[in-house]
Amino acid sequence: MKNSYAIFFIFLNVFILLFLIILLKNILGREYYFSEILENQYCVTYNYLEATESFRESDGLEPISLATHATSDMLKTLENMPKMWNSPISVAIFVDEKTQKSLDYLQNLHNCDKEFQRKMTIHVAFRKSAFQKRCPPLLRPKNSETSCFEFLSHQKSYRDRIPSFFGLYPFGLMRNIARKGAKSDIHFVMDSDMIVSEGMDQKIKRIANQMLDGKLKNVILVRRFENVVGTEIPRNVKDLEESMRNNITFEFHHKYFFKGHKIPNLTFWRTQSQDNLPVSTWNEPYSNPDWEPQPILHRNSPLGPDYVPSRVKTMCSVIYKLCRAGYNFHVISHVFNVQEGIKLDNTVYGNAIAHHQYTYARDKVQERFTKEMDWKYPGTKEKCGHFVF
Ligand SMILES: *[C@@H]1O[C@H](CO)[C@@H](O)[C@H](O)[C@H]1NC(C)=O
Ligand SMILES: *[C@@H]1O[C@H](CO)[C@@H](O)[C@H](O)[C@H]1NC(C)=O
Repeated sequence: MKNSYAIFFIFLNVFILLFLIILLKNILGREYYFSEILENQYCVTYNYLEATESFRESDGLEPISLATHATSDMLKTLENMPKMWNSPISVAIFVDEKTQKSLDYLQNLHNCDKEFQRKMTIHVAFRKSAFQKRCPPLLRPKNSETSCFEFLSHQKSYRDRIPSFFGLYPFGLMRNIARKGAKSDIHFVMDSDMIVSEGMDQKIKRIANQMLDGKLKNVILVRRFENVVGTEIPRNVKDLEESMRNNITFEFHHKYFFKGHKIPNLTFWRTQSQDNLPVSTWNEPYSNPDWEPQPILHRNSPLGPDYVPSRVKTMCSVIYKLCRAGYNFHVISHVFNVQEGIKLDNTVYGNAIAHHQYTYARDKVQERFTKEMDWKYPGTKEKCGHFVF
């Protein structure tokens, strides 16, 4: 008699425990995402919205993810992105109190736009508040109250109601989130205001798979251009050449800090990028510690420092770190991207941010980064030069 009571109670307890676990999982798991804390400053939620397609095809090749980052002012750009990239896209979006509505907008888009849904995976980052010890869980997107018909027919007015982001934006951290959350192992790290040349993801697939196998220490670099505002953006090499001849398209930032972007030997790139030639790459030595070309790299290659302040050499620090880690740089033919607008100077806003962040950079970040590099990669100090924020 006693025994059967005991068994009954054990079963009851197990049953209650199971019930509680399932209840907890339902309440927390379904409604909320857990967010992870980074640098004791930022909260990050991966896969807030997830792409429905993997783009793994019968060729057995690893698809190339476009890894990019944005704020609420870039919603239109994000919307157009699936049209130019036929492979997975991983976006880290930064929100604050005023711009969190962009998440509802993206959810509607993900729900209603099939191309967007197939390709786009969205990760969310926001700044932890003062005195907050932990990151609050992020509410999962609920089924929208807006119908797709309603949303798609008033898309612009929905978008226009979301204010622009204004604040310190952690570029380095955001690029890392986009890379960590990407759904494939090869990543093209790009700023979201760039327009890529036609069919880029397919053109680079084979050669990127050969060169970026996760073991070889290679990085592929993509040439970058800028276009006079309001003119047509060239999307293939032939149009690019004509547009350059007409002084409409130029090498990226050719009038503003060209040292940071210059990839030498454009003439050679042109001859290698003829239609009848296959896509190829060739070695390009590391230029200088202020260099910030756009990389295609494997998941296994090092991430940039998360802690670099806004607008203070965020991309340069990634490229420098790759040099210190012993990576070789290779320029790729045929593909490129273009930004609208010729940069002549920093904006007042950009300068203000750089100034604000500079003190912090000089005092804290410089020491931390130098120490990290010299400890991790003691052998490459001479080869890569001295990095100064
Ligand atoms: C482009 O600019 C160069 C240098 O300023 C000039 O010599 C050339 O005539 C310009 N070409 C056209 C088509 O305007
Ligand atoms: C351009 O690069 C090619 C291949 O690396 C090289 O043969 C050629 O000499 C270079 N030209 C210049 C002007 O640097």
